[in-house]
Amino acid sequence: METKILPVNEESLALAADLLRRGELVALPTETVYGIAADARNGEAVKKIFEAKGRPQDNPLIVHIYGMDMLPGIVSVVPERAKKLAAAFWPGPLTMVMPRGPEVSSVTCAGLNTVGVRMPSHPVVQAVIKKSGIAFAAPSANLSGKPSPTNAADTFTDMNGRLPLILDGGECTYGVESTVVSLIGEHPMLLRPGYVTKEQMEQVLGEEVLVSHAILEKLADGEVARSPGMKYKHYAPKAEVTILQGSFGAYRKYLAAHAEDGVWGLCFDGEAAKLPVPCIEYGAQNDPAAQAHHLFAALRELDRCGAKVVYARSPEKEGVSMAVYNRLIRAAAFRVVEL
Ligand code: TXA
Ligand code: MG
Repeated sequence: METKILPVNEESLALAADLLRRGELVALPTETVYGIAADARNGEAVKKIFEAKGRPQDNPLIVHIYGMDMLPGIVSVVPERAKKLAAAFWPGPLTMVMPRGPEVSSVTCAGLNTVGVRMPSHPVVQAVIKKSGIAFAAPSANLSGKPSPTNAADTFTDMNGRLPLILDGGECTYGVESTVVSLIGEHPMLLRPGYVTKEQMEQVLGEEVLVSHAILEKLADGEVARSPGMKYKHYAPKAEVTILQGSFGAYRKYLAAHAEDGVWGLCFDGEAAKLPVPCIEYGAQNDPAAQAHHLFAALRELDRCGAKVVYARSPEKEGVSMAVYNRLIRAAAFRVVEL
């Protein structure tokens, strides 16, 4: 299959809407990462997403909507908490897990009776939904296990030959996937950290948001994941990544002791020139939004540079940094060294 990359204009938007109506796939930018869209009602179309990504069949997809009037049918009830969170954070990078409605194919939700829904703020997504009238299922546009693409070129690297169209809408603003919060249990629970933080949601809800421990730690053998996505290998470049926790001085010393061919650093802005191995910088130390924005592209860049072993400076674990740490520790297959 030939994969076209087209700039966003009336013509390419019309083509995207047409492909979706015909049950085909379209890759497109969102404010978080690039996604692969298919009609969420059409199980046959959604199956193509799983094939294109090599994604395990039991990992559910998020449904993307435009406007609250699309919600009935996609969910069977709109929980009170969802109304509050939607008023505060939609359109934007927040996914809420709710009871699944009759319009969503069970393929989209991997057979679960719940569905993750989000209303993106990106104008390209909004235009495609408006034009097609279709609420679409869309995972990140990477091959399963790879870092999520945050630009059209990285999307093409993974999806060339696997789908007909990539809409090029430039770089994504946030760079990490949406926050996922479950509104199914007695208490709201954070399943995946993102740009919308636990603290922000707690302020809006006036109650605690529980944090699934699998966000920052490895699941124990045999433990059941609350979100199927938690149990799979994620965001991994070819290189073996290890997070080093400690001061910049300790980091530099560690790199000096481990410097050899193929060893790279993943460090904060302004640090590379002071380090004894080649490094990619992924944002300023005190700027988690910049780290989130650069992380996935930096991991892909390390692959292109031929890095075999990567030692990464550790993000913090609170606020937006929780999202960065969550992605990096998966890229590192939970290898962390305390210096
Ligand atoms: O920012 C995003 O959310 C991007 C863009 C494209 O919108 N999409 C995205 O989708 O990151 P994906 O498929 O790569 O990640 C979806 C995550 C997975 O970890 C999945 O297990 C979880 O959300 N998820 C989806 N539906 C769920 C459900 N019903 N219950 C629990 N977890 C769910
Ligand atoms: Mg993903």
